[in-house]
Amino acid sequence: MTSTADRVRVAVLISGTGSNMAALIDEGQKPGASFEVVLVVANRPHAGGLAIAEAKEVKALAIDHQPFGADRAAHEAEIQRLLIQHDIQLVALAGYMRVLTPGFVQGWRGRMINIHPSLLPLYPGLDTHARAIAAGDSEGGCTVHQVTEGVDEGEILGQIAVPILHDDTPDSLAQRVLAAEHRLYPQVLSELCRTLD
Ligand code: GRF
Repeated sequence: MTSTADRVRVAVLISGTGSNMAALIDEGQKPGASFEVVLVVANRPHAGGLAIAEAKEVKALAIDHQPFGADRAAHEAEIQRLLIQHDIQLVALAGYMRVLTPGFVQGWRGRMINIHPSLLPLYPGLDTHARAIAAGDSEGGCTVHQVTEGVDEGEILGQIAVPILHDDTPDSLAQRVLAAEHRLYPQVLSELCRTLD
């Protein structure tokens, strides 16, 4: 069994609901886990995920981006300060709705991952389910990937495909893909943390 001291210390960055964050916390709290979520940071003070993290006894903090205006780097510097303070080794983005600056991304290269609700390289960006349905695709899905400077472009670490049903709406498809996300993200993060130096 992996002792707590051996587990990779993970921070999860969120903007909203935090259901993927919750799945990661739960996985990291299992006996023998290869990682532990020790910090959750939201860029919105009212992000629902903050209370969920606290209820699971994980430190949860908000760094509101609004007072920083257009100065993304200054906002990220505050986040970076927290990551260093908490000895974070890997950052998992989970519904974090801000594009990160190249400087921040480069600093975490190979140690920052994201989950995206499409089968990348299809449909980077927003409205993935509506776009997949409009294109007549037979399946949607989700992808966990390394974060690089380009949005949703980094190395693919894992994917789950989800069939698109004839009467699917973007919402109904999103719900089934989200359930797949909750399986995929903990699994990929666990595997990655077993192989990190
Ligand atoms: C997920 O669909 C994720 O793939 C996308 O944003 C959504 C976040 O949902 N990046 P939640 O906050 O994890 O519930």
